[in-house]
Amino acid sequence: MTLSGQTMPLEARKCQSLTGRVRVPGDKSISHRALILGALAVGETRISGLLEGEDVLNTAKAMQALGAKVERRTDDNGGIVWSVRGVGTGGFAAPEAPLDFGNSGTGCRLVMGAVAGCPIRAAFDGDGSLRSRPMRRILDPLELMGARVIAQSDGGRLPLTLEGARDPLPIVYRTPVASAQIKSAVLLAGLSAPGVTTVIEREASRDHTELMLKHFGADIVSVAEGAHGRKISLTGQPELHGAGVTVPADPSSAAFPIVAALITEGSDIVLNEMMTNPLRTGLFVTLREMGASIEESETRLDAGEPMAQLRVKASRLRGIEVPAERAPSMIDEYLVLAVAAAFAEGTTVMRGLRELRVKESDRLEAAAAMLRAGGVAVEIAGDDLIVEGRGRVPGGGLVTTHMDHRIAMSALVMGCASDAPVKVDDIAFIATSFPDFVPMMQRLGANFA
Ligand code: S3P
Repeated sequence: MTLSGQTMPLEARKCQSLTGRVRVPGDKSISHRALILGALAVGETRISGLLEGEDVLNTAKAMQALGAKVERRTDDNGGIVWSVRGVGTGGFAAPEAPLDFGNSGTGCRLVMGAVAGCPIRAAFDGDGSLRSRPMRRILDPLELMGARVIAQSDGGRLPLTLEGARDPLPIVYRTPVASAQIKSAVLLAGLSAPGVTTVIEREASRDHTELMLKHFGADIVSVAEGAHGRKISLTGQPELHGAGVTVPADPSSAAFPIVAALITEGSDIVLNEMMTNPLRTGLFVTLREMGASIEESETRLDAGEPMAQLRVKASRLRGIEVPAERAPSMIDEYLVLAVAAAFAEGTTVMRGLRELRVKESDRLEAAAAMLRAGGVAVEIAGDDLIVEGRGRVPGGGLVTTHMDHRIAMSALVMGCASDAPVKVDDIAFIATSFPDFVPMMQRLGANFA
């Protein structure tokens, strides 16, 4: 739905090949973190390539409401640079109005962590999707650190009011689920605590907060824990210094043109400056196991984040089993993987998807409903999703978005190669993460109308 309350339907029809070179927008996770760390640092942080999607713009507004100076400027070469002048660790000012995070769980939860380390009171709110999502997982550790929940809805949901700790305590916290949002909230609160704050995760989640904290001058150490986990220790009360950040292209957004190219005959596309942090690239590992042609070149490192150019060609895919421990490295990609699985030959079993139930929508149910609308046989068994791939998809259905950008984009990708068109009821939420998605796909050859 748009702000005016209008829904925006769109239909994807079978297209000829997808070809061309694109750079998808900046990574959403890194964009949120650059704004938040910039706001907690002393001096100026200059960010280029920031994702200008609604989710990130809401975080920018929140940083301003908490006392940072945030400006969007055009540099001498006509490029866009976001400048953030921070308040210093623990220095946020009480906002006058509730902070509205719209659709964004990441913005909301990370800022809760940052606020928990400041002696201020702040109210948090969001749209219908965000109001339905669990916040207890964030509030529990923040309360252990000394923050207080003053008001909350329905078992720790938004709208809620948080009072940050005057003297935050450093804690050792084992995250109950693999979640970069929980880890990051604890670390951001830990910035204001004296001594060492430690987060232990049984399965490693994306480490952009750790990499960026180091880039801004914090003393933070991450070591392996068990077979797949990590133990992260942050020394509190560092002076963070404003830094330059170049935001690489978002692999979670790239996932849509990549799968569209794989399933559309004759396609050959190139994606520039893609972030290839191994804690984010589980989808590429999986697609390669399914037989996808995805070539990597021009690899390099920028502010600790690996990047590369990817070339993707249409491929015959086969069904595989995706292990549960891979889920954290591709948690946002299962909807579009389900589309790839529908076009593969054979059964794909995706294991351990419980966390999908608490995303922007219940994505486990949504994935099944989307595929059924396209005429694909699919089953949910406990936390697993099982897709019967037949090499082709009949299409022809209407997919309901449920205020979830990734459902809308996945369904449109399905329509690029299905026999009959696929219609999406409302594409407005695509603007939260990938405002250019429709025109960029059309430039590659997609038939959206
Ligand atoms: C994110 C972490 C993930 C992911 C979200 C972005 C982040 O959520 O789904 O889109 O930037 O930290 P969880 O931490 O809940 O797994």
